[in-house]
Amino acid sequence: MATWRDRGQLLLPLLLSMLLPPVSAQALSYLDAVRRAVDSLNQRSADANLFRLLSLESEPPEDEDPESPKPVNFTVKETVCPKRTQLQPEQCDFKEDGRVKRCSGTVTLDSASGAFNIRCTEVQRSRKEGLGKLLRKVVQKLKEKFKKISQKIKDFIYNLKPRSE
Ligand SMILES: *[C@@H]1O[C@H](CO)[C@@H](O)[C@H](O)[C@H]1NC(C)=O
Repeated sequence: MATWRDRGQLLLPLLLSMLLPPVSAQALSYLDAVRRAVDSLNQRSADANLFRLLSLESEPPEDEDPESPKPVNFTVKETVCPKRTQLQPEQCDFKEDGRVKRCSGTVTLDSASGAFNIRCTEVQRSRKEGLGKLLRKVVQKLKEKFKKISQKIKDFIYNLKPRSE
């Protein structure tokens, strides 16, 4: 007779296989294909440092034909590793304030060919400008607050004064 524990052991793998998305193996090779493309881009680039995948913005394709080109969009960011390193990009930390490139094109999932067609363009660094803007806004807000408060204090003092009529 099957105990609850036995049934649990049967149920668990079944539940897991239902919960896991069926594309997980496909997604992994899509991600791997992108990483492989990043490796090739690194080899070809004239940059001093390795770039590493920052975010994969496109979804794995439904078409599972490994030969057909799959559209991809992703960003890469400069790491602290010089290009001549023996390390993989994934082992390198992102450089603080490192350069970021947005890449777009196609990869193939075929592990043998490794064909890809990708163009990257450097993203304008707006972080510092953005920060400056934010700071100016905060200062502006503080100034306005201060003005209001000092007006209130002035009013208060004015009201304290004995009125001479
Ligand atoms: C990639 O990005 C471009 C521009 O943002 C968009 O038109 C295209 O649909 C994206 N492709 C994928 C596969 O997400």
